[in-house]
Amino acid sequence: MNDQEKINAALKAVSFVTGGQIVGLGTGSTAYFAICEIGKMVREGLQIQAIPTSEATRQLAIEWQIPLADINTVQQIDITIDGADEFTRDLQLIKGGGGALLREKIVASITTTQIIIADGSKEVEQLGAFKVPIEVIPFAVNAVTKRLHLLKGNATLRHKNGNAFQTDQGNFILDVDFGLINAPAALAKELDHITGIVEHGLFIDLAAMVICGKGDALEIYEAAKK
Ligand code: 5RP
Repeated sequence: MNDQEKINAALKAVSFVTGGQIVGLGTGSTAYFAICEIGKMVREGLQIQAIPTSEATRQLAIEWQIPLADINTVQQIDITIDGADEFTRDLQLIKGGGGALLREKIVASITTTQIIIADGSKEVEQLGAFKVPIEVIPFAVNAVTKRLHLLKGNATLRHKNGNAFQTDQGNFILDVDFGLINAPAALAKELDHITGIVEHGLFIDLAAMVICGKGDALEIYEAAKK
């Protein structure tokens, strides 16, 4: 992990933010740098409305006096800047290391230009070294764990300070080891159909661009235009 690489990626990403936009604000240590920069731009007069992807990000946005919008009052989000736990060059992602994957995916799903920012450690040939975070309702932990076993997924209930980690929605997170994932889209579809899973951290075809800091340079990967 390299803070300067994160900062470089964040600075490049915020250059795509323009006045009048609805801007999705991601969650995590990389998104943090983008949010602070957007805060500075707002202080200097940039007019945007922002939609945070977590309560932590909402707090940070409030500290920077970034105007917030209610997601239920907007038709779409113009641009979102968020981090990732792993990405491949074809822009498939694992997210949810910070536990905010549900709101992150809702925001991504209504975003026109989803920009992922990362340091070089997040780039992988194949997803799966990072366990896939899966948000489950507490009632379903055992049932979902068994279903995941059938998919060769080994689930561990995430803990924090000795207790089960709770998401902003009051749900739990299973961190699931599938080994290296040969077909992320197919796995994502299987997970979509398991009762008790609220959302999973495989982000398939949601990113428009990944900006990755590599030393002093940036590597930019873009999705093929649809
Ligand atoms: C939170 C996320 C984060 O974007 C992801 O965990 C990356 O975080 P960081 O930038 O701190 O490495 O998905 O749910």
